Amino acid sequence: MRFGPIMKMDGEIAAAVRGLATRAATGVELMEGVVRLLREERPYYSWAGFYLMEGADTLVLGPYHGKPSPHTRIPLHQGICGAAASTGESLIIDDVNADPRYLACSLETRSEIVVPIKREGKVLGEIDIDSDRPSAFSDEDRRLLEEVAAIVAGRL
Ligand code: SME
Repeated sequence: MRFGPIMKMDGEIAAAVRGLATRAATGVELMEGVVRLLREERPYYSWAGFYLMEGADTLVLGPYHGKPSPHTRIPLHQGICGAAASTGESLIIDDVNADPRYLACSLETRSEIVVPIKREGKVLGEIDIDSDRPSAFSDEDRRLLEEVAAIVAGRL
């Protein structure tokens, strides 16, 4: 007897995202499907959302799954989100409360991963995931989310 739902492997999630990218009528529909899928398949992803670049220096909250965030617009010099977008590098924060850059979205959040979405080196936006668990994110999450970001980049 098995207990609880059987979760998809990373490769299956990437394949499901490719399927969504083929079927989705718009980039927004694709991103909505991605955040829902990630929350369903990775229970320690307590919040999953997209931020999209507006002009050269602001991130604007796009589709998300989880509680509403107070941070609907983030300047590039603020937050973990701004740091990842301005460097173009993925960031894993094991303890958000120990990082002075952190902008709190929910009091329960303990760790965070932010992965830029890039096309030809240009940052178009990012995937932001929060977890209520400390040190929730590993290199496997980073690899998976970088693959998802590359698929989404093709539809933005
Ligand atoms: N924690 C982010 C802000 C976005 S919320 O987590 C949804 C940051 O520090 O940039």
